[in-house]
Amino acid sequence: MFLAACATPQEQPQQVLEPDDGGTIQLDARRITKELGGSSQDMYGYNGQVPGPLIRVRQGSTLFVNFTNDLEEPTTIHWHGLRHDVKDDGVPGVSQEPVPPGGSFLYELRFPDEGIYWYHPHVREDRQQDLGLYGNILVLPAENAYAPVEHEEFLILDDILLENGRIVPHGHDGANFALMGRYGNTLLVNGKERYNLTVSQGETVRFYVTAAPNARPFNITFGAPIKRIGGDLGRYEREEYVDSLVIAPAERYIIEVTFDDPGTYLLRSVNPWTSYDLGEITVAQGMERSSPRETRVHPDVIADIDRYRGEFNRTPDMVLRLGVDLRMHGGMHAGMHSVLPIEWEDTMQEMNRHADARQAAWFIEDETGARNMNIMRHFTQGDVVKIRIINDAHSDHPMQHPIHLHGQRFLVIEQDGVRSGNLVWKDTVLVPAGSTVDLIADLSNPGEWMIHCHIAEHVEAGMMAMISVAPHAAER
Ligand code: C2O
Ligand code: CU
Repeated sequence: MFLAACATPQEQPQQVLEPDDGGTIQLDARRITKELGGSSQDMYGYNGQVPGPLIRVRQGSTLFVNFTNDLEEPTTIHWHGLRHDVKDDGVPGVSQEPVPPGGSFLYELRFPDEGIYWYHPHVREDRQQDLGLYGNILVLPAENAYAPVEHEEFLILDDILLENGRIVPHGHDGANFALMGRYGNTLLVNGKERYNLTVSQGETVRFYVTAAPNARPFNITFGAPIKRIGGDLGRYEREEYVDSLVIAPAERYIIEVTFDDPGTYLLRSVNPWTSYDLGEITVAQGMERSSPRETRVHPDVIADIDRYRGEFNRTPDMVLRLGVDLRMHGGMHAGMHSVLPIEWEDTMQEMNRHADARQAAWFIEDETGARNMNIMRHFTQGDVVKIRIINDAHSDHPMQHPIHLHGQRFLVIEQDGVRSGNLVWKDTVLVPAGSTVDLIADLSNPGEWMIHCHIAEHVEAGMMAMISVAPHAAER
């Protein structure tokens, strides 16, 4: 039938791609129809999939991605967390021109670090990523760094804002919801409203968890202890048990959960205001095993970090303050509220919905008073620098910001004067309102790189700055 022939194709099942070292994969961005909230939604998918294909590669390998843009708007792909060449970083106006509708671009990716990564557009993330453009890359350690487990699962956490069964429209010329970012009211795991897994009693599942929402922070629980193994760029110094896992937009964690008892375990996201059921793990009766609660230490990770410990006490090389200038009718000042370290929910939805980037002018400001893209700090490859980020409790609207540095790795050594006793290399750090964090950044990768808030509406509103890393003299 004519109508059927014209209709946007349905979402496709997720592929797993395991390219060889030096291999090439095809990726496109296209429109799809996807069932959510009981009706068909017009959304986007990489190769028609939400999440996009899971790409599994070995640490140290190279991959070519032949990308085609089948959308009706320009886009790029940013490979979040990779310390690869800046020409492949996918940032429009910085590393490449946006790929126009019908155009293509060949990305060459390198994977120097183990860990769980993700890819997403770097054009109108508030709309393109929200409509389904995101996927994972698993970089397997060169040697087997993880304990054997019965199952490996990938959880991409997301949310979407539905009203009367439809996705609330995104701003046409720029992001709406620019005040707090767009908090969805329907939570998604791997693009679905419910997650399901069946395992046998006593089995252990390694979950690779990625947060891909525009703004919402998650705090997930399984009804069982969570063994935290890794963060953005691989393993922690030491494995540790936690009851719940806070994960902000763009962060990743590697965790293991052992399901000791037959029955049903709920995967939930809980916060002081409300809790969400994300899905369930059904545990079939099996062999009773008492799982030993052992945690491992990773001497190779510790030894790598040891090379940087001498720099932990240096004075900050760069101090960044996070804030906003609100220019809103009937504008509201933070002074009227007590400051919450984390806004788990959108507490001012009407005001937020109508806020654009002019009204909510988010900024990163350095010691000199320069703001956003007027900040361009110069360093040299091999520099180890301390970056202090102060999330101003007295700005017009204090709230948490997940701050991401492209193309490099850093350690979050201190928050509010408390040193971390267990480090992991990261590329994104959640800075709660009123908090100060100190990062030790390993500027190993030459190029011009962004540092920005990963709330999609905040980056759209300009909350981004640059650092420039000149190549080492020997490599010039
Ligand atoms: Cu995942 Cu510049 O972003
Ligand atoms: Cu922000």
